[in-house]
Amino acid sequence: VPQTTRPTIKTVPTFGEMPAVYGEGMADLVAWVDKVAALTTPDRVHWVDGSRAENDALLREMVDEGKIIKLNPEWRPGSYLARSHPSDVARTEARTFIASQRETDAGPTNNWAEPDEIRATINPLFEGSMRGRTMYVVPFSMGAVGGPLSHIGVQITDSAYAVVSIGIMTRVGTDVLRQIADGAPWVKTVHSVGAPLAPGEQDVAWPCNDEKYIVHFPDTLEVWSFGSGYGGNAILAKKCFALRIASVIGRNEGWLAEHMLLIRVISPEGKAYHVAAAFPSACGKTNLAMLRPTIPGWRVETIGDDIAWLRPGDDGRLWAINPEAGFFGVAPGTGESTNVAAVETLWGNTIFTNVALRPDGDVWWEGLTDTPPAKLTDWEGKPWTPDSGRPAAHPNSRFTVRASQCPQIAADWDAPEGVPLDVILFGGRRATNVPLVVEATDWTHGVFMGSNISSERTAAAEGTVGELRRDPFAMLPFCGYNLADYFGHWLRIGQKLRFDRAPRIFQVNWFRKGDDGRFLWPGFGDNARVIDWIIRRVEGSVGAVDSPVGRLPKTDELNLDGVEISDADVEALFSIDRDSWMRESELTEDFYRTFDGRVPAPLWAELSALRYRLQRA
Ligand code: GTP
Ligand code: MN
Ligand code: MN
Repeated sequence: VPQTTRPTIKTVPTFGEMPAVYGEGMADLVAWVDKVAALTTPDRVHWVDGSRAENDALLREMVDEGKIIKLNPEWRPGSYLARSHPSDVARTEARTFIASQRETDAGPTNNWAEPDEIRATINPLFEGSMRGRTMYVVPFSMGAVGGPLSHIGVQITDSAYAVVSIGIMTRVGTDVLRQIADGAPWVKTVHSVGAPLAPGEQDVAWPCNDEKYIVHFPDTLEVWSFGSGYGGNAILAKKCFALRIASVIGRNEGWLAEHMLLIRVISPEGKAYHVAAAFPSACGKTNLAMLRPTIPGWRVETIGDDIAWLRPGDDGRLWAINPEAGFFGVAPGTGESTNVAAVETLWGNTIFTNVALRPDGDVWWEGLTDTPPAKLTDWEGKPWTPDSGRPAAHPNSRFTVRASQCPQIAADWDAPEGVPLDVILFGGRRATNVPLVVEATDWTHGVFMGSNISSERTAAAEGTVGELRRDPFAMLPFCGYNLADYFGHWLRIGQKLRFDRAPRIFQVNWFRKGDDGRFLWPGFGDNARVIDWIIRRVEGSVGAVDSPVGRLPKTDELNLDGVEISDADVEALFSIDRDSWMRESELTEDFYRTFDGRVPAPLWAELSALRYRLQRA
């Protein structure tokens, strides 16, 4: 039985011994752990078992060290506030690299790095980077352990905050090690905050390093992350593994790793439908995932709010799981009027990062309540009043909470086989042009729509094309390989589905604005009205009108009972401006041309067909 060599053992650990799991595959794991320990020279190695007791001990230790603040259990039991270094508050896309063998495999939208070169760059950074700290070994599963769509990995990290966050966001436990022992493939992820401690040196509340690297090696299924403690850079199971690395595994194995929420919609007749939706960051996935319909009879059950893995089944349908186990959601803007289910989810057992602290030991952020409390401590730990002239919570402050705490979570949300998809939605933040909802004519047209997802940086004047930030399939920062090849992969997935069982594809836009700059559509709970129409289309009980950009609702078949919206606004929500769409099609052409001929021919054909329809219109 291989034994890991533990460098110097500082304290006798209550937890953290290497579990007694035997099998061929353990040798690889132990050898890798030893190699990383030899490189990073931590004071001790702690094997994380994922138990409640271990989690509580880690939290207690962090409170004692001043790294997190325990919230008042009367208001927020089992909950904590972490304040990051003011410079370490978000994903760092500029420091994120795809180190594929060939540059073209990363594509023009990713930062590419030559694998050997980047290893030579980051290795010296990791040398001794865990000195004075504990190195945690965290085995985790994305998807139910052993499930047919699940994948496993191990994260090494020197951040206890990362360990407890991974504990919420994934399934951590020794059962994962048993799978590794049995020879299951696993992804290697290494994370260091990059702040070694000299003997006797006092630690800071949020250690990190000005130099940051988040490097993905898709060919060897590895992630190396240095210098940041922020969720997206430190919880490597999430964006790094479940999207960037998993998208490459999915390309090789014939499935899709997507930046999508996942819900079950139950109609007034009691029929269940499954919907996945890809919207770019901060465009409403968590909101739609926890939708509370404003129309009677409809119900929504939450399955996932950020990532979905999609695989064609033997039955010709597309099956989906939420590979995560928790929500890492944006706090600001989450309130009783926008997302009451999220507010209820956060009743306790939550780790908040960079929100404001109330004098009574509870938390607050912009949008939680209409009026702010008179006195707060802001996310940087400074005194704050409503006159301070700055937000109390960081705009990207987050909550980390188990999915099972959501009051409307589906009872079978973690079913290993997942759910069969009926509908796929694509959406972005578009002040102009894009209608409230439009149905794709077929799978290829839907893929064309997905490849064109974009958001306006600022609201453009009506009828003109603003500056668009393209975010195809909401995957721009998350696709681990060439996006043009990814479009092709989507087309191939469509061919594996039975044409009458493939999910129907729609584009939605909650964000269209009037000339006066106000949102035309009430959004939030009223988005159920759009879902209603979409489900009725799938059932075949409502019609549609052909337009150059796809199929639009007949407006009298849209359930608008009880919404305050003028006929003019409804018309504006669906108006198609031919000239703007023509100009937009030129932007699509420019974008496709950046891929050196790799964009699949069927998408070029869709672009020509769109232009032809616009000319005829
Ligand atoms: P990530 O978790 O970063 O991937 O983003 P997300 O897609 O989950 O974004 P989130 O749900 O946190 O986006 C919230 C933002 O979208 C807030 O500014 C909301 O007010 C806004 N939003 C969500 N739904 C609607 C809607 O129906 N209408 C309008 N106008 N705004 C909405
Ligand atoms: Mn996201
Ligand atoms: Mn979200």
